[in-house]
Amino acid sequence: MLNHDKSVSENWVNHLNIYVGNESDLWLRGYYNNFRQVEILHDRLSGIIIDRREPRTMFLLSSRPYLPITYIMTMSIIEDISGKVAIVTGASSGIGEATARLLANEGVRVVLAARREDELEDLAAQIELDGGDSLVVPTDVTDDADIQQLVDQTVDAFGQVDILINNAGVMLLEEVQDADTDNFQQMVDVNLSGLMKLTHAVLPIMQEHGSGHIINISSVAGRKSFPGSSVYSATKFGVNGFSEGLRQEVTGEGDIRVTLIEPGFVDTELDDHIPDEERKQQTKEVHETMDSLTSEDIARSITYAVGQPARVDVNELLIRPTQQEL
Ligand SMILES: NC(=O)c1ccc[n+]([C@@H]2O[C@H](COP(=O)([O-])OP(=O)(O)OC[C@H]3O[C@@H](n4cnc5c(N)ncnc54)[C@H](OP(=O)(O)O)[C@@H]3O)[C@@H](O)[C@H]2O)c1
Repeated sequence: MLNHDKSVSENWVNHLNIYVGNESDLWLRGYYNNFRQVEILHDRLSGIIIDRREPRTMFLLSSRPYLPITYIMTMSIIEDISGKVAIVTGASSGIGEATARLLANEGVRVVLAARREDELEDLAAQIELDGGDSLVVPTDVTDDADIQQLVDQTVDAFGQVDILINNAGVMLLEEVQDADTDNFQQMVDVNLSGLMKLTHAVLPIMQEHGSGHIINISSVAGRKSFPGSSVYSATKFGVNGFSEGLRQEVTGEGDIRVTLIEPGFVDTELDDHIPDEERKQQTKEVHETMDSLTSEDIARSITYAVGQPARVDVNELLIRPTQQEL
């Protein structure tokens, strides 16, 4: 038997199952499961070949069999998602920007949608520098023609839509009595109607492919309401209701998944647009006193959800800063 050095992790070694393939040759064969990178530390082992046709199989080239080996494994918690196509709305800043960047790092072809074209172009240039692939489609999600154009341009460029990240949102906090009702309308149009209409436009493409993943960005405010957040919360409660109904509708239609992401306080530009100065100041103070989440924290959660095997639908992720009580 091969003498394993189990110094790294007993469990991981058990997953690797290395055995000597054939005593007459010097190949060692092993299976691995979700191990993206396996580094073998031994001067007699001259390399690793990962069989691309069967990514769970790897071959270790050895100068002689029965070598004691030490190995360090970097386990990936996500599957290979490279080559998939993701539309990310609200990609010009905050959570959307971080998510697009992280997905592009994983080899996903990202379609960057928001109103501020310059920000999208800057992001696309950075993604390209890092070796990624993206497409900029300036989009106002409150405009039906823009939504259709976003979907059409994505399909023209990449042929499909595997992942839709409905992230665009505005949070115009103010008490109902004092509020400008145009702000009510804007929150409903962006946070809820835009999300539902884009989903409606993308769903047939996913249904035709028999697979797809819709990620809807809700909020803690989709579970709780606070003074000043009535309308914002109403839109996010709406996103929660829509997502669960949609999930049930598409269950059994191939592998179409729906995931709801509900962040707590994330330090982004979202607060900059709060019309009530007092509330804006209060929100800013929260970020100064609390170790708020970063956009990258949420981007990792989204990437975790889309990186699960097709049989796994992460339905809901509620993510608060550790110091956030409500
Ligand atoms: N930050 C938080 O604490 C927090 C907590 C829970 C949930 N969320 C949710 O997370 C999502 C992202 O917000 P964020 O925190 O990352 O804030 P952000 O930096 O302000 O990002 C909001 C994004 O939405 C886009 N957007 C706004 N109106 C749009 C429209 N009509 N059409 C297309 N895109 C539009 C903005 O781009 P343009 O201005 O360029 O169009 C921007 O890219 C939102 O849905 C928000 O409700 C945030």
